[in-house]
Amino acid sequence: MAKLITGGTGYIGAELAHILADRGEEVVLFDININHYRIEDIESKVKIVRGDLGNFSEVFNVVKDNKITEIYHIGSMLTYMSELNPQASFHSNVIGSYNVLEAARLFNVEKMMFTSTLGTFGLQMDDMLTDITMQRPLSIYGCGKLYIEGLGRYYNTKYGLDFRSIRYAHMIGPNVHTPGHWAPPMIEDAILGKPNDCIYGTPESTISMIYVSDAARAADMLLQAPRDNIKMLNYNVSGIPAVVSAKEVETILVKRFPEIRVIYKSDPNRQRRRGGYSNWKVFDDSYARKEWGWKPQYTTVESIIDIFEKDMKERPGYYGLT
Ligand SMILES: NC(=O)c1ccc[n+]([C@@H]2O[C@H](COP(=O)([O-])OP(=O)(O)OC[C@H]3O[C@@H](n4cnc5c(N)ncnc54)[C@H](O)[C@@H]3O)[C@@H](O)[C@H]2O)c1
Repeated sequence: MAKLITGGTGYIGAELAHILADRGEEVVLFDININHYRIEDIESKVKIVRGDLGNFSEVFNVVKDNKITEIYHIGSMLTYMSELNPQASFHSNVIGSYNVLEAARLFNVEKMMFTSTLGTFGLQMDDMLTDITMQRPLSIYGCGKLYIEGLGRYYNTKYGLDFRSIRYAHMIGPNVHTPGHWAPPMIEDAILGKPNDCIYGTPESTISMIYVSDAARAADMLLQAPRDNIKMLNYNVSGIPAVVSAKEVETILVKRFPEIRVIYKSDPNRQRRRGGYSNWKVFDDSYARKEWGWKPQYTTVESIIDIFEKDMKERPGYYGLT
């Protein structure tokens, strides 16, 4: 009766591992690159399996050997690394997710959730991105995630697999130094009193934010929601309802930390490598709210900075900040 988290020692995976371990669940974390510092306080309560999603026997074995009943499929190469190596991204994110779907089908997994991305949108984005906006991704990462959204839907109708997925907005949290994300380093540097070199954004760049603990909570809420409620299957999930620009975040930070300095050094080549766009539109998550009761805890930039600061003080080890 164990639950599997792929990418279980990544940012969102480890946060989710804490939720499940604290609830007393039997949890298996599968990851190609184990980050022990994120799970050291729960390491005695979870099982860790090192493996590659792209290797079908490693995926099948972890599901079969541990009698997995529910899968949180969170492991993935992210945008920037995917653009640097599209073939590796295809292997990890597309073949890897197919392996997870096949394992779920063959070993009678009861239900599975998958983490997709707002990067499945791209070309000619509307002013508001909803669950029925046409998805035309520009990045290999977005193309791969969109394919798995569709493949999951196919497994649902063809094989009856209880599949659901979330498209996250930009995930924010301490030490989330994901290449391409300007907000976490800007907030973290302000709290640490350091100047911030904003290499991934211009003052006008906009993003839609979700705090890491909200992202993990959403994954759990979605998978635990009654199946009858799940109509849309693939859901946008956001934290702050509006988009925010780098300049707006800087202005809020300056009020709190008057000494800070943000130096914008955005490089167009870098922007292109991460999929080519930096002005995101409002990410509407009304279907998630309506169908399975999604409600973020952190809904303003100020509330995100508050929890960011608190987390950096209380859990520096968790974020690798010691
Ligand atoms: N970070 C964001 O802003 C964001 C936004 C939208 C969607 N997402 C999605 O959320 C999920 C979690 O993202 P995160 O921010 O926690 O990223 P992360 O990089 O911290 O975690 C991903 C984990 O997957 C593991 N992984 C990568 N390739 C693997 C492979 N081939 N086999 C096994 N494990 C592998 C990594 O080692 C890592 O621990 C991902 O699916 C990502 O696409 C993230």
